[in-house]
Amino acid sequence: MNLALVGFMGVGKTEVGRILAERLGLAFLDIDSEVEKRAGKPIPSIFEEDGEQAFRLLERSVTREASTLDGLVISCGGGTILNPENLRDLRRNSIIILLRADPEIIIERLRGKEGSRPLLRGGDAADRIRRLYMQRLDSYLESADVEVDTSRYTPEEAADEIIRLLGEIPYEGHHR
Ligand code: S3P
Repeated sequence: MNLALVGFMGVGKTEVGRILAERLGLAFLDIDSEVEKRAGKPIPSIFEEDGEQAFRLLERSVTREASTLDGLVISCGGGTILNPENLRDLRRNSIIILLRADPEIIIERLRGKEGSRPLLRGGDAADRIRRLYMQRLDSYLESADVEVDTSRYTPEEAADEIIRLLGEIPYEGHHR
């Protein structure tokens, strides 16, 4: 069984994932970092030089492989579960944990970091965040076994809350 952290950019998937892995004694796998390792370049360069489609294919193969492993905390990219094949693979052996935050808080958190997020480049980043957030919200909510609003939490507090919530879900509920 794995724990997969999903949700919009800027909700803390990577930071909370690391803390969670450490606290639970699980290995940590960050899908974006694995994609970068495979491509041999950072995500913005993949988008620029090879296009979003190439990024999504790499993300797809990393997700497929990650979902065959066990005992991991997997931090997904913001778009990972929007591909139904990725979601299906993850659901086989992962509890899907949705990290949420108010879009206005996401805008604050991502201010100045747009350069590392190709989907927010060019034009008004705040506007793009609001629009993408609305487009994606239903998919995120539908994917989730467990939901945590990180708007007012530090990453440590979010990890504490996840551990508390995990204690509440019945094991049978993990199987689909
Ligand atoms: C993306 C989110 C990014 C990264 C890529 C695309 C998305 O991950 O995978 O830039 O589609 O939302 P983070 O959520 O870690 O920023």
